[in-house]
This record gives sequence, C-alpha cells and structure tokens, in this order.
Amino acid sequence: MKFKRLSDFDLKGKRVFIRADLNVPQDEHGNITEDTRIRASIPAIEYCLKAGAAVMLTSHLGRPVEGDLKPEDSLAPIARRLAELLERKVPLIGNWVDGGFEVKTGEIVLLENCRGNKGEKKNDDALAKKMAKLCDIYVNDAFGTAHRAEATTYGIAKYAPVACAGPLLAAELDALGRALNNPKRPLVAIVAGSKVSSKLTILKSLAEKVDQLIVGGGIANTFMAANDLPIGNSLVELDLVEEARNIMDMMDKRGASVPIPEDVVVANELSSLARANRVSVKDVAPDDMILDIGPRTLAKFANILAHAGTIVWNGPLGVFEFDQFGGGTKMLAAAIAHSPAFSIAGGGDTLAAIAKYHIEKQIGYISTGGGAFLEFLEGRTLPAVEILEQRAAAQ
Ligand code: 3PG
Repeated sequence: MKFKRLSDFDLKGKRVFIRADLNVPQDEHGNITEDTRIRASIPAIEYCLKAGAAVMLTSHLGRPVEGDLKPEDSLAPIARRLAELLERKVPLIGNWVDGGFEVKTGEIVLLENCRGNKGEKKNDDALAKKMAKLCDIYVNDAFGTAHRAEATTYGIAKYAPVACAGPLLAAELDALGRALNNPKRPLVAIVAGSKVSSKLTILKSLAEKVDQLIVGGGIANTFMAANDLPIGNSLVELDLVEEARNIMDMMDKRGASVPIPEDVVVANELSSLARANRVSVKDVAPDDMILDIGPRTLAKFANILAHAGTIVWNGPLGVFEFDQFGGGTKMLAAAIAHSPAFSIAGGGDTLAAIAKYHIEKQIGYISTGGGAFLEFLEGRTLPAVEILEQRAAAQ
C-alpha cells in the first residue's frame, strides 16, 4: 500500500491533527475497563510532541447523537487516562470545529468526541473542510475506524494540506498485509462464531487464499451438516449448507481443505451448570447441542497449527465463557502460542479469549480493530486507507 507515513514529514512548528480510535469500553460509572486502544495511540502522539508539533487529537466514543452530546459521550475519562500515560496535561476542548482554541508547539489538546459534530458520520464536505483548516498535517492513526468513511477519517484527508498514516495504522496494515498478501505458508485461518451468514464473505475470501480453513462454533455446525453429519439441536443455518459445500469444493480444487471435527463436546442445555459430554461426531443425538470441539479434533487442529507458517485467528471455537465448553479454545490458544508461525488475531471475542488464557505476548500481532479487522479479512478496501493512497498518488 502506498501512502505517506508520519515519519516522511518534518513536524517542527506544524499543527498536526491526529485521528485516533480511542473508543474504549467503560463501566456504568464511565471508568475505562480496557485501555489497549489508548496505549496503542501513544507512540504517534509522543512522536509528534518530540518533533515539536502542536498536537490536536480526536476520536469518537460510542455512537452519540450528532449535535447532542451527553455527559456520558464525553472524552473526559480518555483525557485523564492520556494525561497519566503521557505524564502531561491533556486539556479537553469542546466546540472545536471552528477553531478558537490555542495549542502551543510541543503541547497537546484532545478535541471532544468527533461524532458530536453534525455531519461527521455522513462525511459532510463542509465539516471536513472546516476541520482541515485547523491543521498543516492530518494523521490517521485510527485503524479501528478505518472501515468508516466519516468526516474525520475520510473528508478531512481530502482537504488537509498533507494527509498521512500514523504508526499504529501503518503497523496494522503491514501486519495484516504480511499475513494475508505475502504469507509464509502453510497459511491457516481460524474463523469461528455463531453464524456462517455473518462471516460468509470472510469465509469465501479466505477460501481463495488459505491452505487450511479451521471453522468453529455455529459455523462448524453448518459445515458438519454439509458433510451429512448429525448436529442434533445445535445452532445451524441449514439454508447456508450449500454455500458451505461450495466453499469446501472451492478449497478442494486448490488442494486446500476445511478440516471437519471428529469429536465434539455436547450438552442438553447452555448454562454454567450444564453437564458436558464428549462424543464422536457420528453419535450426536437429536437433543444434543454442540458447544465445543473434542480432544481428537483438537489434536488434529494443534498439529495443523504446529506446522503452519502463518496463522490468522478470528473467533473462539466453543462457548468458552463456560469452562466446561472452553477446552477447545483454551488448547487452540496454547497451540497458536507455541506454534513457530507468525500469528495475527483480532475481533472482540478473540481478544477476550486471548486475555482469559494469558497468551497476549505469544501472538505475533493483536489487532486493535473489530469491524475494520473483519473487513480487511473480507478483502475489502478500507475507505480511510483508500483516501490516504489517493492523496499519496496525487502529491
Ligand atoms: C470499533 O469499536 O469497532 C470502532 O471504534 C468503530 O466503532 P463503530 O462501529 O461505532 O464505527
């Protein structure tokens, strides 16, 4: 991908506008419960401050009503966390679109929730032009929002004197590109989740690239049904069985495969007290729900992962929130952690599994993107990246 990077510019004395993704989870009192995205945004900010820029930083938080920001939509808790991490003051500026605030070189201000501005989500041109006037250099470091064409992720990049990618956005694209466009083979993807329908485009796109496609959760049930295996009372999408067959055929023709489970963990109910039984896939009874994979399947998957060159992971294999159905995801996590392959993981549930099984340090790259990570896997062009490429081509 050809876009300008922050390091291509002399920032001394320049007004730099950074769009980050500081959209972090909070509890009911507004306390930040997980701050990975804030910490991941620090290198760009520190780089600009050290280089002598006057830094304006903004992000969205949640999905507020434009023009009607409520106290709970405010970036105030984010400003406090940033101030702790940067060990300096981070003033929060409201009503900032028309300027009228001051930021000195070597200092930073946080511009209040950009989704409070009317026209942000619709990528309004007039709003984008006003914001572009605030800066000499626009930096997009918000990988998590790169799949949205909004005024702070797209429009401003059209009109700012200079538009470039920050280090986090560049690192995410480099890591994902390395995993999918130029992978060390065998390339193994793990795609799990409740529904084939929500990940059909990803499955189809990966089916053209990967050597093994491990499916899990409700998705695996649909693939098992496509192999004429009994799935009892499990979550399944029978209308997509044909699509599952097409994917398997497509992979077969390329000499690639979708390994189907040999044994599974079943129960009659989904609860923390449910009794889990291991059965062969041929012996799933009509009232059984498949809630995890069994040990023979796990050994097969672990062997595939041990010999992989690259692993892309999205989605837990079983209902890992309940420990009796978490064995598959736990052991899969361990197999990825111990594999010599370059691994990349992303998506909310996947990050929760990585945290639960403490393997953060053994994953090659953990993406900060949710929807953006999935859209990249689908092979879609991320609009926020596309506009940076267009600007680079024109500069
Ligand atoms: C996310 O949390 O995935 C990003 O911050 C994007 O948020 P959005 O789905 O509200 O655009």
